[in-house]
Amino acid sequence: MLDAGAGTGLLSHCLKDAGVKEATAIDISPEMLSKAMRSGFYSCCKVVDLKKSFGFADNAFDVSLCLGTLTYMEPADDTIAELCRVTRVGGYVIFSMRTDLCEKWEGALQNFVDKKIWAHMGTSEGFDYLPANPEYGQNILVKVYIYKTLQ
Ligand SMILES: C[S@@+](CC[C@H](N)C(=O)[O-])C[C@H]1O[C@@H](n2cnc3c(N)ncnc32)[C@H](O)[C@@H]1O
Repeated sequence: MLDAGAGTGLLSHCLKDAGVKEATAIDISPEMLSKAMRSGFYSCCKVVDLKKSFGFADNAFDVSLCLGTLTYMEPADDTIAELCRVTRVGGYVIFSMRTDLCEKWEGALQNFVDKKIWAHMGTSEGFDYLPANPEYGQNILVKVYIYKTLQ
């Protein structure tokens, strides 16, 4: 599994509990990645700017996860194309998105469906993102998207 935008590796506990045996963490922050490495869960931690090429071979991962991170990207960046490229055919790309940003990404996500690069498997309902923050509260929630890679 690829944990793209892994930060300090907060997800490592859930991934371990879910039975993930091997995972690679990438993030732009070496400081955060060094904490992720200390979790002992990731077999590889690599500094990568998710806006550009990830530097992995095609089809390198069964599943690519990108949680809490697309906020920092734009649809025109290489992020989505790279998540697809490094995920094997028949694998899954799973990411979260803030509800206030979903509309901005809609066209780019559909474009990959139209080109048969991936198929949309489902999107969660919106759920709490930062419920105690008055700016977000119930105004800005988060959704999880699941796509299956087709090529
Ligand atoms: C909100 S944190 C999410 C961390 C982790 N996925 C989690 O759920 O706890 C967002 C992460 O995106 C990373 N990030 C922001 N811009 C990035 C970029 N251009 N390339 C790679 N990572 C980036 C940050 O360093 C940070 O670790």
